[in-house]
Amino acid sequence: MASFSIAPLTDHTGAEVVGLDFRKPIDADTRAALNDAFVEHHVLVVRDQDFSPDDFKVAVQLFGELQPHDKKEHHVPGFPDVSYVSNDEFVNGRRIIPGETFHTDHSNHPRPPKATTLFAVDLPSSGGDTQYVNMHDAYDDLPEATRRKIDGLKAVHAYLSKYSPRPLGYLSEESQKKLPPPGVHPLVRIHPENGRKALFLNPVRMESILGMEDADALKLIGELMAHATQKKYEYRHKWRHGDWVLWDNRSVMHQANPDYDMNERRFLYRLMLKGEVPA
Ligand code: OGA
Ligand code: MN
Repeated sequence: MASFSIAPLTDHTGAEVVGLDFRKPIDADTRAALNDAFVEHHVLVVRDQDFSPDDFKVAVQLFGELQPHDKKEHHVPGFPDVSYVSNDEFVNGRRIIPGETFHTDHSNHPRPPKATTLFAVDLPSSGGDTQYVNMHDAYDDLPEATRRKIDGLKAVHAYLSKYSPRPLGYLSEESQKKLPPPGVHPLVRIHPENGRKALFLNPVRMESILGMEDADALKLIGELMAHATQKKYEYRHKWRHGDWVLWDNRSVMHQANPDYDMNERRFLYRLMLKGEVPA
């Protein structure tokens, strides 16, 4: 086996992978070790890669099957199936920072992506970290009465909730037409690979909880969010050139930070991997 290492970044979330060049073939044992680490640590930080959009696509598929993007018009020029995040999008004259509040990706889908992954192409000289919070630990730490109350609840996840704390980027009419109907997902899901329960929350998309008044639902979601986003559940990723990061949308929420000089460019390739119906 190639000589490489996988080391935890905190005692709950994140592991760093060093010593592999993913432009070269990866053997089956290494691939299995990486997938195990992904399920155990929820966020993988792979250092020192040098990817073209096509290299990135090939490497990402070691972890699963690509999930197509909702915004067909938004892709790396010349690479229709490789998306990106950048800090140079404006809607109604206002800059949009994708992912600016805590969320899990594409939860409006009937089968939300199991993973999202970014490769750093251009980074600001400081700031622009991505924060991850562990939704397994956050769930486990809830009082028993709260766990009992929320275990059977289901929420409606629209493309953009009328209660969203922030706007989303531009979506063409054609892409809008292709959106799936809102997803109805449990508030507490069981991870199909590690067997652990996790809170499944997304204030950007959650519009209601079945059987609850909206005001009560929003209060509950607010309380759960305040609990789940405590620092003790967090791994905060400081991006370095060459970083390739994958996260498990079934285990963590994440958010971007617009805390850097917006004259500097932040640009990362982005892909997602297919997931399953949350249960
Ligand atoms: C995303 C996202 C966070 C970041 O790509 O889904 O939320 O830090 N990105 O860019
Ligand atoms: Mn996101």
